[in-house]
Amino acid sequence: MSVPTTILAIESSCDETSAAVCRDGRIYSNVIASQKVHEQYGGVVPELASRAHMQNIVPVVDAAIKQSGFGLKDLNAIAFTQAPGLIGALLVGAQFAKSLSMALGVPLIAVHHMQAHVLANLIPERKPSFPFLCLTVSGGHTQIVVCRSPLELEVIGQTIDDAAGEAFDKSAKLLGLPYPGGPLIDKYAKAGNPQKFQFAEPQIPGLNFSFSGVKTSILYFLQAGTAKDPQFIQDNLADLCASVQERIVSILIGKLRRAARETGIRQVCIAGGVSANSGLRNAVQATGKKEGWEVFIPAFEYCTDNAAMIAITGYYKLRAGETAELSIPASARSEW
Ligand code: KG4
Ligand code: ZN
Repeated sequence: MSVPTTILAIESSCDETSAAVCRDGRIYSNVIASQKVHEQYGGVVPELASRAHMQNIVPVVDAAIKQSGFGLKDLNAIAFTQAPGLIGALLVGAQFAKSLSMALGVPLIAVHHMQAHVLANLIPERKPSFPFLCLTVSGGHTQIVVCRSPLELEVIGQTIDDAAGEAFDKSAKLLGLPYPGGPLIDKYAKAGNPQKFQFAEPQIPGLNFSFSGVKTSILYFLQAGTAKDPQFIQDNLADLCASVQERIVSILIGKLRRAARETGIRQVCIAGGVSANSGLRNAVQATGKKEGWEVFIPAFEYCTDNAAMIAITGYYKLRAGETAELSIPASARSEW
């Protein structure tokens, strides 16, 4: 019988400190500590993120190991998010992973955060078959990826300015909602009319996205509304949230549909923090029915930043012999 592969994974690229344990491709624990400290600043403050990671990393790793039911001696490899992200935040996870790999004498696996978001779709029992398409939508990225195997990914479309998560968060800010506003727009949108207000639809050729025009259109619309009635936003919050969400989702779905038609791929996934959005989840399912797709949507805890997705990616990399030297640097940039 072959020896099981047990991997501890660490994610620290932005404002979530997370650790997970996976054995032979199955997740046994996924502990996530979200950093509340940024809320009062209206965005992630890099220096504060690094400090919070420093405070969280030992208890989070400890909890992930305990919850998995395994011990340090069971670990065969340590995976960590190597890129992209906030450099000071990445360094905390990278140094911790390297130290543990060195102390335990087990291999180190460097994981790309965006690849991991895509491969979160390989965590559940019901998995897409290859090749599949993935719309990856997070606070920093918006991409359409063709995934031909766990380690063969190609970005075929991406944003030329803001990411979808930024579009949600910046619109929320204009509506007076606290950071991160994406989940709040989702919440208020549930009681609103998505057709009440129309915002500009960008005309970007091909499979690329643009969201900066939408944000400007919302800004001007709100300025005009509040000039006439100072209570305009408060009185129309649900309809405004529903209409903003409708526009962002329709842009995402339009490009995803185009990508599926152009590539002929019918296995369609979503990933990243914005894939937690209920409007997007519903729209992907509805479009999938019309277009004949088989749709895959990760559970909420695997949509936003988490170490389980780093662990599953680490598992496929280890199987392919893709381990890293201890000297590998963390990188803020997103080279694929
Ligand atoms: O993937 P993620 O957790 O972190 C990055 O790698 O960026 O994504 C965070 C983004 C934020 O912009 C947040 O507002 C957005 O995901 N988000 C949502 C929802 N939940 C998280 N946006 C809209 N609706 C949601 N339910
Ligand atoms: Zn992310």
